[in-house]
Amino acid sequence: MDTKTVVADFEDWREVVTEAVALLEDGQVVALPTETVYGLAADAFNAEAVARVFEVKERPSFDPLIVHIGHKRDLDIIADVPEELEDIVDELVEAYWPGPLTLVLPKKSDVPDIVTSGMDTVAVRLSAHEVMRAVAREIPIAAPSANRFGRISPTSAQAVEEELGGKIPLIVDGGACRDGVESTIISPEMTEKGPVLRMLRPGPIAREDLRKIAKVIKPKKTKADHEGSGGQPKVEAPGQTESHYAPATKMILVEQPSDFVPEEGVKYGLLSYRGEGNSSLVEATEWDTIEIMSPGKGKLAEGAVRLFYCLRKLDAAGVDVIVCESVSETGIGVAMMDRLRRAAAASK
Ligand code: TXA
Ligand code: MG
Repeated sequence: MDTKTVVADFEDWREVVTEAVALLEDGQVVALPTETVYGLAADAFNAEAVARVFEVKERPSFDPLIVHIGHKRDLDIIADVPEELEDIVDELVEAYWPGPLTLVLPKKSDVPDIVTSGMDTVAVRLSAHEVMRAVAREIPIAAPSANRFGRISPTSAQAVEEELGGKIPLIVDGGACRDGVESTIISPEMTEKGPVLRMLRPGPIAREDLRKIAKVIKPKKTKADHEGSGGQPKVEAPGQTESHYAPATKMILVEQPSDFVPEEGVKYGLLSYRGEGNSSLVEATEWDTIEIMSPGKGKLAEGAVRLFYCLRKLDAAGVDVIVCESVSETGIGVAMMDRLRRAAAASK
């Protein structure tokens, strides 16, 4: 299949949206930009089209997708918000939508089971990217990140092309993603003491911010995570069972600079946070390649935007081992370290 990339710029993005909507209505899958990472989109109410997403991504069917809506009011088409959670959900939606916050809520029965992997909850978000939002206003969109399963998430149209070129008819190029790591996923739940927010995946909306709205609690540990399971693992904590974000190259995350002991004859690439002068790892060996996430003083938000891009470049650089520096685990740094730890764990 030929994959066409069209740029959604100021003049003609409406035309591009019309083209994407027509393909989606026809049951096809297309790559669309969001503010976090690019998504591989299908009509959420067309089970066959959603099946195609799993097929194209080579994603196991037990890992559910996020439904992207186009208006706040469309939440009711996808989820059945329990009365006791209405206030907290309203507050979250008012504070963070459109934006990189995904809510896990009881699903409406007519959302196809394939979207939620048979679970009775559904993940929903309203993207802040105008192209995704304009498409989702026409059709609710089921979309995972537009990478092959387990690989590095794409933050540009070119990265999508590298991942899925030849497998999908259309990539809408909406520019580089503003946030660069996937949305924060929370499940609002009611307890005797009031509502709590179960943090299922750290992302651009930080725990510190959510804490102002309600108590934030940890995800449940899934049995399948630790013991394996005879049947299909049930994904309660998303992105926790999946080996994720893996470069093809071996990667190590150095949490203490003294832990890195270079070996003779090994070609190393460095993923540095701030670069020379600010990092003891830059001087630690003769690096083959260095990619810097946020040169100079180091800004976590800039680091997040460039993280997957830099990782992709290092993966293509032909080194034997990618070495990553740690970043501070505050704000979006929590999400960055989550992705780096998973990438390192998955690359072995
Ligand atoms: O920023 C994002 O969220 C991007 C863009 C494209 O919107 N999407 C994304 O999708 O990261 P994906 O499929 O790569 O990750 C979605 C995560 C998965 O780990 C999945 O397990 C989890 O969401 N998930 C989906 N539905 C769920 C549910 N009902 N309960 C718990 N986790 C769920
Ligand atoms: Mg993903």
